[in-house]
Amino acid sequence: MQETDNLLAFLKTRRSIRRFKADPIPDSTIRELLFAATFAPSAHHRQPWRFAALTKKTSIANFAEKMTEEFRKSLAADETPPATIEKLTRRSRERIGGAPVVVVACADMSEMRRYPDERRQRAERLLAAQSVANAGMQLLLAAHAKGLGGVWLGSPMFAQNAVSEILNLPPTWEPQAMFLIGKPSEIPQARERKPLEEISIFIDEEGGSI
Ligand SMILES: Cc1cc2nc3c(=O)[nH]c(=O)nc-3n(C[C@H](O)[C@H](O)[C@H](O)COP(=O)(O)O)c2cc1C
Repeated sequence: MQETDNLLAFLKTRRSIRRFKADPIPDSTIRELLFAATFAPSAHHRQPWRFAALTKKTSIANFAEKMTEEFRKSLAADETPPATIEKLTRRSRERIGGAPVVVVACADMSEMRRYPDERRQRAERLLAAQSVANAGMQLLLAAHAKGLGGVWLGSPMFAQNAVSEILNLPPTWEPQAMFLIGKPSEIPQARERKPLEEISIFIDEEGGSI
């Protein structure tokens, strides 16, 4: 098999890993993954990604506890039934707390262009978020390449201030996502993908789809 075929097969074998073995992951491995992530493309090559890595058991447990409290508050504000709150918060605490490593990915807008009008400024903010997402994807693939696994959690987008406060992040770092990383304890089946015909079109020379 050619190298490119191997790479395509590799891309298709990444899974979101949510359960991990307790094995600790050395900080040097996390640095290696983060370094690989920085080779992602970014808008104007501004590299607006920032990473806060939690690798100590106590800091992860503390983070899991505080994030779960935030989650509990938002579920309660939505008038979620108490039994559901209990179930969801327990799962959240166990999931985050059970990860050997947590990486919070942030965007730093101070690295990006500034526009006087709101339309372009909004686009620029999206470009920063897209750039951070590229690095996040690359982080997951780098973990996969090392025989590790990870999952992308979107919750920091709903609790940006709380994440910044809990981790005492620099003021320009805007939390975008968190990644749980470790040795997989189970590898789930691939989830079904939408057929290509449903999600893509080929534009013909006249500009219409065929
Ligand atoms: C922006 C984004 C946010 C996500 N948020 C969550 C999340 O909060 N909780 C979770 O369990 N998985 C989350 N995921 C993982 C997706 O559920 C997962 O990628 C999807 O189910 C496909 O599975 P696969 O990654 O194994 O192919 C997120 C993925 C992305 C890209």
